[in-house]
Amino acid sequence: MSWGAQEESREVLELEIVPMRRWHLRGVLRIENQVYPRPWSAGLFLSELSLGPERAYHVARSGRRILGYSGTMFVEEDAHVTNIAVDPAWQRRGIGRSLLLNIVRTAWARGAVNLTLEVRISNTGAQELYRSFGFQPVGLRKNYYAETGEDAIVMWVYNIKDEEYLQRIARLEVEASTKVRLVTPPPTEGEKDLSSKLYRFMHLGNFGRDVNG
Ligand SMILES: CC(C)(COP(=O)(O)OP(=O)(O)OC[C@H]1O[C@@H](n2cnc3c(N)ncnc32)[C@H](O)[C@@H]1OP(=O)(O)O)[C@@H](O)C(=O)NCCC(=O)NCCS
Repeated sequence: MSWGAQEESREVLELEIVPMRRWHLRGVLRIENQVYPRPWSAGLFLSELSLGPERAYHVARSGRRILGYSGTMFVEEDAHVTNIAVDPAWQRRGIGRSLLLNIVRTAWARGAVNLTLEVRISNTGAQELYRSFGFQPVGLRKNYYAETGEDAIVMWVYNIKDEEYLQRIARLEVEASTKVRLVTPPPTEGEKDLSSKLYRFMHLGNFGRDVNG
């Protein structure tokens, strides 16, 4: 079968999300160098990976090919998204949404309560994705991006453990499953409690009807 987003565009993409390791960096940097004007270096990724439980970096891969990745920094009750990117040839296939869902699951597992991130004012596509996850703009960081002097919008989701947020995530899980089939390692102990609640919302509630109108 030929490789490429276009040939496979009608299929549900089988995706595995696993912790980022140093041997993934070649694939990660291939994407990083395409999507950012000031890409992170291998050294920066390596230093982030060395920070253990204060960070969580994951890659999304299909077979052996890395299609996207994400990074989160944990500071007390806050989970700060440091990076999220998808191979340009594979964007709008649900990979970014799947990575963000994985960030939420990881944040639950680590006991985080809030999510935050910065995003370029001009990056309206990413903002759209973040809004669907309940991120709200709370302020601006002037000239945050040194290479262009562009401002960053600071976005937050407060209290990712409340019932309403669980319902939002359950809906997003259903939406994600129309584009991506996740092949993910089983959840950790910390995830199980919230995941079982989520399962109840998805399978015993009426989300299917809500989502499909
Ligand atoms: C932002 C990014 C990670 C999104 O990844 P993606 O895999 O394309 O996103 P998804 O396919 O999961 O999108 C999910 C939803 O988010 C919204 N969305 C994502 N990209 C969008 C875009 N360019 N324009 C408008 N909406 C967009 C849509 O609602 C989309 O759902 P739909 O396709 O059913 O309409 C990707 O565009 C990227 O890597 N950009 C370059 C790096 C970057 O800007 N990272 C963010 C730094 S803050």
